[in-house]
Amino acid sequence: MARWIYVMGTLLVMVTFSFFIFYSVRAFNLTPDRPSASYNAPDYRFVLVTEEVDNDYWRLVEKGARAAAEKYNVSLQYTGPKQANFDEHMKMIEMAAASKVDGIIAQGLNQEVSPTLINRVTEKGIPFLTIDTDTPESKRVAYVGTDNYYAGFLAGQALVKDTKGEVKVGIITGRFDSANQKLRVEGFKDAIKGSDRVTVVAIDESQITRIQAAEKTYEMIKDYPDINAFYGTSALDAIGIVQVLESIGMTNRVYVIGFDILPETLQLLKEGKLEATVEQKPYEMGYDAVELMIQVVNGEKISTYHHTMTDVVRQKDLTQTETMTPGGMKQQ
Ligand code: BGC
Repeated sequence: MARWIYVMGTLLVMVTFSFFIFYSVRAFNLTPDRPSASYNAPDYRFVLVTEEVDNDYWRLVEKGARAAAEKYNVSLQYTGPKQANFDEHMKMIEMAAASKVDGIIAQGLNQEVSPTLINRVTEKGIPFLTIDTDTPESKRVAYVGTDNYYAGFLAGQALVKDTKGEVKVGIITGRFDSANQKLRVEGFKDAIKGSDRVTVVAIDESQITRIQAAEKTYEMIKDYPDINAFYGTSALDAIGIVQVLESIGMTNRVYVIGFDILPETLQLLKEGKLEATVEQKPYEMGYDAVELMIQVVNGEKISTYHHTMTDVVRQKDLTQTETMTPGGMKQQ
């Protein structure tokens, strides 16, 4: 009996594994099975692996990347976990490398494990560009995205400038282990160091979801009833923060600064429920990353850092910002 169970168990594992390999390879097989007469074979195949595939911020990165891919006749695979998850993110990078694409564009999220993975990919001869979050300790060819420490510093400076009296800040950060989030917190803390009236009283993570951002905000207000400012360091955090403040009628006496310009963020700024946000350029990041990868695969030398613009946007800046589409990029 035990032997029978063992044999069946082994068979089941083998079948499951075969399915996994089959569908993994299919997921990254970017060439149509039977090319039609009008089929124009792409010059290159690139993969863009995101932190969370349906996140509005990443959809803007995708939009930019697709525009450049079309221009340069590149087949672009856009992928990522359904919900932010380091292991899945890394598995998708591994799968892209296994299907021998011409270039991989992805975040270097975790500074402890990302360098080993990125180095393994580049040692296979596949160039790797980091986007949005850098891994300077790896063999990635270059980084495209915000200078995250500087962006966090700008947020801290803005909060000091915009507030008076004693300020107790609660920070909602995307994920404690993500390098870009850490830098945004570090920059912020350094910027407020010079002010003896601003202190950080609590910090918690949202797993980059607005629901958890809201939950953590609610808990913080319960634990620190005198909190009078919030700083959200990933795209959906400020939206979750404001949702709670609104529900308990506190928007008027709490200062909120967030990150990014998504349609909802713009709306909250307009309504005066959000005081400021740190603008990033996700569309540009996607576009530039594909363009740079083309140069890399064509053997051109490129510089290591391509910092995209970042700035603080307040309600009074809106007339200018409103002429832009969400994501801050004037798109045609
Ligand atoms: C960050 C991304 C993150 C996103 C989550 C952005 O501000 O740059 O790294 O995935 O927020 O919503």
